[in-house]
Formats: sequence, structure tokens, C-alpha cells
Amino acid sequence: MAVDNHVAIGADHAGLEFKAILRDQLIRLGFQYIDAGAPDGAERADYPVVAAEVAQLIQAESCRYGILICGTGIGMAMAANRFRAIRAANCSNEAMARFARAHNDANVLTLGQRLVGPDLALSILEVFLSTPFEGGRHQGRLTLFN
Ligand code: RB5
Repeated sequence: MAVDNHVAIGADHAGLEFKAILRDQLIRLGFQYIDAGAPDGAERADYPVVAAEVAQLIQAESCRYGILICGTGIGMAMAANRFRAIRAANCSNEAMARFARAHNDANVLTLGQRLVGPDLALSILEVFLSTPFEGGRHQGRLTLFN
């Protein structure tokens, strides 16, 4: 059974500042996190490797959600979505985060540290984690992939 308040968080070298900020916010919001790397201060990390770590933590039901940060959020989303049962959404505003959860039941949020400011990233995170999946007509669509 996935632990509902456990979140896996990861970043490549271009997302490490956000990873530190969002870790603190996760604790403030009552979540526990598993840091899947890259290590703080890493000069270089390849986003597909970090995305795989986070995807596998969700597949193993060690975490309910994943947060992945790179320069744009695009590479992380592409990499995470290669994994069965992962629905990663790259969100650059709160509305995207809300719909990603409400309509798509996204379980991974990806963010671009080079494209989104830190205050907005915190707000996107909060919306993502507090918005329930609406189910209903959206549920059947999810069964058409994965
Ligand atoms: C790294 O320079 C950058 O390419 C990466 O963080 C990400 O934006 C890829 O999608």
C-alpha cells in the first residue's frame, strides 16, 4: 500500500536549488520525502537517471507522489513517463497543476527551475498535492493507457 504522505523528490544539476526549497515545503505541508538525488551541490547529473529512481519508488508503492526538477521540467517528464503507472505532468502554473491532478490523476509533478520562479514553484507544489482526482469520466480514460 502506497504511503499517502510520502513523496519522492529528485533533480538534476539544473534543479538542485528548487529541490532544497521544495523539500522544506513538503515538511511544512505535512509530507515526508525520500530524496532520490542528485546530491546537493552536484555539478552534473543526468535527468533520466534521477527520473528512473523516482518512478521506481512510486511503482514500488514506497511513495504516493514524485516531484522532479530539471532546467525546464521537460526532460524529467519525458523520462518519467516511460515508466508503467507513471503519469508525469510538467506544470508552469497553478491551473496546470490543478488539472493535472483533477483530470489526469498525475502522480509526478515536474518543474523547470530555469522557467519558473521559486514562489510560483511552491504554489504549484501546494496545488498539486492538495487537489484530488475527480474520477468519473476521467477514470475510464486512464485505463486506456498504462
Ligand atoms: C540540463 O542542462 C538541462 O538540459 C536539463 O536540466 C533539462 O532542462 C532537460 O530537459
